[in-house]
Amino acid sequence: MSAEDQKRAAGEAAAALVQPGMVVGLGTGSTAAWFVRALGARKLDIVGVATSRSTATLAQELGIRVAELGETGPIDLTVDGADEIGPALSLIKGGGAALLREKLVWEASRRCVVIADAGKRVPRLGAFPLPVEVVAFGHRTTLDRICDALSECDIGAAPRQRLKDGSPVLTDGGNVIYDIACGRIDAPAALAAALKSVTGVVDHGLFLDLADLALVATDAGVVEIE
Ligand code: 5RP
Repeated sequence: MSAEDQKRAAGEAAAALVQPGMVVGLGTGSTAAWFVRALGARKLDIVGVATSRSTATLAQELGIRVAELGETGPIDLTVDGADEIGPALSLIKGGGAALLREKLVWEASRRCVVIADAGKRVPRLGAFPLPVEVVAFGHRTTLDRICDALSECDIGAAPRQRLKDGSPVLTDGGNVIYDIACGRIDAPAALAAALKSVTGVVDHGLFLDLADLALVATDAGVVEIE
């Protein structure tokens, strides 16, 4: 089974969790897109809260009603992908530059399910570069303080600004992204707190204690991890 087939299987398994009448958080990325497609095919009476403009567009094209975060009652279930799934369902997210809106929707949700192909499971976080969303104004000076925060956590990696075709990647909120090739993250909670304390850092891609369930597609089927 290819990684893409596994992403599709995980997305379809998650779509089966949705019940009519639910408010559903819709993740961002290629795996979440499989979920949104499978959800659209079910033609349920639900409301979606999208974690990015691209997901909102996809959902609307599929006939899913989309509301802004805060316009609905509580979000019953959010389904989203991840770049790494580590111990205790700790995650790195933000490979698609949607980490802030994703975290806002996750934190407003009663239940969060992460979906992924088998290659996303890791024994320890950090091989995937950790995205950090930074206010564009003065981001180069913010970078100096991010480096100080990393040193406090014994991480020597130099953050690199994310570019596409030579231009800065901007998030849906107009912020820039720095990626930190940590290599390994031994103390994710300490790193999360250190990054969050830097003025100008909007948020980071460490999602700790947020996922309730992972649906990981393997060649032997979709495995549930709690
Ligand atoms: C976007 C994300 C994605 O969920 C993450 O990058 C995984 O993407 P994909 O499913 O395409 O591998 O966090 O910001």
